Amino acid sequence: MSQPGRVLVHPDKQVLADAAGARLLVALLDALGEHAGPVHLVLTGGSMGSAILASLGACPGREALDWSRLHLWWGDERYLPTGDPERNETQNAAALLDAVPVPAANVHAVPGPDTTASAEESAQRYAAALGEAAGAVGGVPDFDLVLLGVGPDGHIASLFPGHPGLAATGSTAAVHHSPKPPPDRVTLTFDALRRGRRVWFLVAGSDKADAVRRGTGPTDVDRTPASGVAGTMETLWLVDADAAADLATP
Ligand code: 6PG
Repeated sequence: MSQPGRVLVHPDKQVLADAAGARLLVALLDALGEHAGPVHLVLTGGSMGSAILASLGACPGREALDWSRLHLWWGDERYLPTGDPERNETQNAAALLDAVPVPAANVHAVPGPDTTASAEESAQRYAAALGEAAGAVGGVPDFDLVLLGVGPDGHIASLFPGHPGLAATGSTAAVHHSPKPPPDRVTLTFDALRRGRRVWFLVAGSDKADAVRRGTGPTDVDRTPASGVAGTMETLWLVDADAAADLATP
């Protein structure tokens, strides 16, 4: 069952990043303690996706994390070659991943055009990796935590308002003609993202205020994809005051 979202407002973007990084450390430690085996974390691109990782890397207590049990996935990836500075993976690596002892086999990067012939092939290979982790072809592991940035238009991952990619079934999809560059991408579908136990939306800035209002309102996936995902255990909107400006005051 999906959990209704709670909105936690932070004074500004830096405090949001710092608090979210500390919260991420605790959530990962909790997940490592709650069950045996791999802990699956879905990362996000965008400025907040890297800011939370940089903040985690600066948190006292970070040495307690057992990186050998953490498995890293991405909610979406820009279909660009490995190492391209515009890839979400590259930006997340620079923010933290290059500096931590996560085994290479646990980093499930979305293949780029350097190793695949098309975004479709990349999506298929990414789906195969998810299926292997889930122990079922076409399956998706229960993600311990899904991090999601939100665009000013209300997009999450590469699920854009009014875009045909919204209707994709299965666990992954190739996306073309993305309204935000680059045009070719690979994304987790709604069905896959909804497998998150915890789902956290990370949002800062006044240009996101309307997206936060719509994303936390009634589900309207076509207009506001962010309204269509919730965690099975927890749904948090971690926002700064600017991004919360259009929410009704309690
Ligand atoms: C992408 C990004 C994108 C991002 C949001 C929020 O693939 O283009 O992943 O979806 O997460 O636009 O970005 P900010 O956190 O920078 O506002």
